[in-house]
Amino acid sequence: MRFQIYRYQPEQSDQPYLQDYTLDIPPGTVMLLDALMLLKAQDESLSFRRSCREGVCGSDAMNINGRNGLACITRLKDLAEPITLRPLPGMPVIRDLIVDLTSFYTQYRAVRPWLIDEGPEPEIERRQSPGDRDQLDGLYECVLCACCTTSCPSFWWNPDQFLGPAALLQSYRFLQDSRDQDSGQRLDDLEDPYRLYRCHTIMNCTDVCPKGLDPARAIAGIKGLLAKRRL
Ligand code: SF4
Ligand code: SF4
Ligand code: FES
Repeated sequence: MRFQIYRYQPEQSDQPYLQDYTLDIPPGTVMLLDALMLLKAQDESLSFRRSCREGVCGSDAMNINGRNGLACITRLKDLAEPITLRPLPGMPVIRDLIVDLTSFYTQYRAVRPWLIDEGPEPEIERRQSPGDRDQLDGLYECVLCACCTTSCPSFWWNPDQFLGPAALLQSYRFLQDSRDQDSGQRLDDLEDPYRLYRCHTIMNCTDVCPKGLDPARAIAGIKGLLAKRRL
């Protein structure tokens, strides 16, 4: 198979370039990450992140033939050649396919992605009915891969002010959690022309999510909660 891979090695040159590779794919090589590991065995200078190799850690997100995705759950047979791999768009590149995700995590932290309950410590676990638990489906599965946020034009233009789809999906996850006691402050923090309302419903986020989640729907859910609060 033929590959074209974005290379950037700042200690050698400040100019990135696309490098051609060819690989004889051994039988049983199914996923793109497997092929990347074989390429790395050929050229150890090739750099990318990876860990779990099963779509759980979110670390091998990259732009694959023009679309963000996770290499470990992308099948080689579904990709046209040459397979072109670039770093996630809109982020500073540290090296080859590795980007600096500082702005992504800054926005994630800003939504306080943890359960807030200032009440007395319960003697047993905080209980939730099966129906309330169901509200978290489609939200808790996010692996923070950043595929959505780095495909969002509103985030490219305002990474310091717009929270981006991943952080907003996480915010909605806690707004929907029956055990969380801080919805009022969470909504106050979101009611802002940039933090939330820079989303123009372009839908790239939902289109690319490799876990099949729907950040645009979560964002619409937050807007709905704010509209209801104003009534
Ligand atoms: S729907 Fe909103 S968050 Fe998603 S890509 Fe479009 S502008 Fe970005
Ligand atoms: S919503 Fe999907 S694309 Fe966005 S960070 Fe979570 S898993 Fe990745
Ligand atoms: S290596 Fe963990 S999600 Fe791909």
